[in-house]
Amino acid sequence: MSPARAHAAKTALEAAEARFIANNPLSKKQHELAVGVLPGGNTRTLLHTSPFPLTMKQGKGAYVWDKDGHKYLDLVGELTAGLYGHSNPVIRETIVSTFDNVGLSLGSTTVQEHKHAALLCSRFKLERVRMANTGTEANMHALAGARHFTSRRKVVVFSGGYHGAVFSFPNGKPAPNTVDKDDFVVVPRYNDVDLAVSTIKSTPDLAAVLVEPMQGAGGCIPGTKKFLHAIQDAAHEVGALYILDEVMTSRLAPYGLGVKLGLKPDLVTMGKYLGGGLAFGAFGGREKVMAVYDPRVEGSLAHSGTFNNNTLVMSVGYEALKRVFTEEACVELNQRGDRLRERLMQVTKVTKILFTGKGSLIGVHFVDKSLESITCGEDIQDKERRDLRDLFWFEMLEEGFWTTRRGFVALTLETEEHELEGFVEAVGEFVERHRDIVAL
Ligand SMILES: Cc1ncc(COP(=O)(O)O)c(C=O)c1O
Repeated sequence: MSPARAHAAKTALEAAEARFIANNPLSKKQHELAVGVLPGGNTRTLLHTSPFPLTMKQGKGAYVWDKDGHKYLDLVGELTAGLYGHSNPVIRETIVSTFDNVGLSLGSTTVQEHKHAALLCSRFKLERVRMANTGTEANMHALAGARHFTSRRKVVVFSGGYHGAVFSFPNGKPAPNTVDKDDFVVVPRYNDVDLAVSTIKSTPDLAAVLVEPMQGAGGCIPGTKKFLHAIQDAAHEVGALYILDEVMTSRLAPYGLGVKLGLKPDLVTMGKYLGGGLAFGAFGGREKVMAVYDPRVEGSLAHSGTFNNNTLVMSVGYEALKRVFTEEACVELNQRGDRLRERLMQVTKVTKILFTGKGSLIGVHFVDKSLESITCGEDIQDKERRDLRDLFWFEMLEEGFWTTRRGFVALTLETEEHELEGFVEAVGEFVERHRDIVAL
C-alpha cells in the first residue's frame, strides 16, 4: 500500500473516532462508571470496544437505542441468539402466561422440558436431547459424554473454531483459558481435508472430532461438504465420535445445517435462539451415545444444572420455535440473508470489502483477496485491514446500523427487506466516500 493511501486511511479513522467520542458522551460516562465494578466495564469481553463501548438502553422490533438516544437497525442480532428480534408477541405472551400459570422454579421435572425436547428432536433429527444453559455448557457435556462413551480423552478441533467461553482455538492453539487444554489437538487449517484426515487418523486416544459446519466467530467461513464428510468418515474409521457444533448454524436450514449437508453426527450441540431469547444450550444425538447420561444406567454420568429445565426458557424456546421460527420462516430468513449478501457484494465490487457466510449470517472482511480464495481464517488473518474494518464500524454507526466491530452481521426475523436495502445503500456510500482507500 502506498504511504499516501495509508495516511488517508489513518486520517479517516482518527476523524471517525473523534466524532464517535463527541457523539456519545453518555455511553462514555456509563463506561467510566462501569469500570469501577466490572473489569473493563463489562461482563462479555467480545462487547468491549475502544475507546469505549456503546451502551444500549432499549431494543424494540428490529431496532436498538443507545444511551445518547441514537437509533440503530440491529444487525448484531445478539450474535445469532437474537433471532426473534426485540418485540415478538408470542415470546411476550409466553413469558407472561408461564409466569402466571406455571411459575418459575418448580424444582422438579416438568412437562415443558419434555415438550421442548420432543420438538428439538423432531426438528433437528435427534434421537435424544438434554438441555443446558449455554452453548459452552452444551459442548462441555457433549465432550464429557464422548469421553465416557469411548473411554478416550483427546479431541480434534480446528484453528479458528469457537465452541464457547472456555473452548476457543484462535491461531491454531487453544486460547489460554481453555479447559482440559492438553486434550485438544488443533488442526491448523479449517477446510483442509488432507491435513484434517491425517491428524484424525494419527491422534492416539481420540474420543471426538468437534467442528462447526460454518466457523462463526472465526469469520463466517463455511465448511465444504467434502471436508465435513471426510472428517466425519475419518472420525468413525478410528472409533471416535463426530460432534457437530450447531450453536450458531442450526438456524441456517430448517433441520440445521448438518442435516442439509447430509451429515450424520453422533452428537449435535445447540443453543442461542433456541431459548427464544433466554439463556439456553442443548446437546443431543444418537440414543446409544446419549445413554451415557441416563441415570437409570449403572455407572452413567451426571449432568446437572439448576436452570437446565427452567420453566420460562423451556416454554419460550418451545413456543418460539414451533410458532415463529417455522421451517418456512427459516427458509425465508436465510433467502433474505443470501439476497443481502449478493447486494452487498455488488456495491463493493473491486474493493477490499468481502462478505462471507451463509444465509442470515454474514462476515465482513477487509482484505485483498477473492471470496473463493478464503477457505479458513489463516487465509485472511494477517492480511485483514483492521483499520478499515474499524472505520467501517464507526461510520455504519453514524448511519444508524448496529454491527459488531469484528465484522459480523446476524439478521433477525423482524428486519425487513427495505431496511436491509438501507444498509446496502449506506455501504455503497461508504465505498464512494473512501474509494481511494478501499479500492483494490
Ligand atoms: C459455534 C459456537 N459454539 C458455542 C458457543 C457458545 O455459546 P454460549 O455463548 O451460549 O456459551 C458459541 C457462541 O458464540 C458459538 O458460536
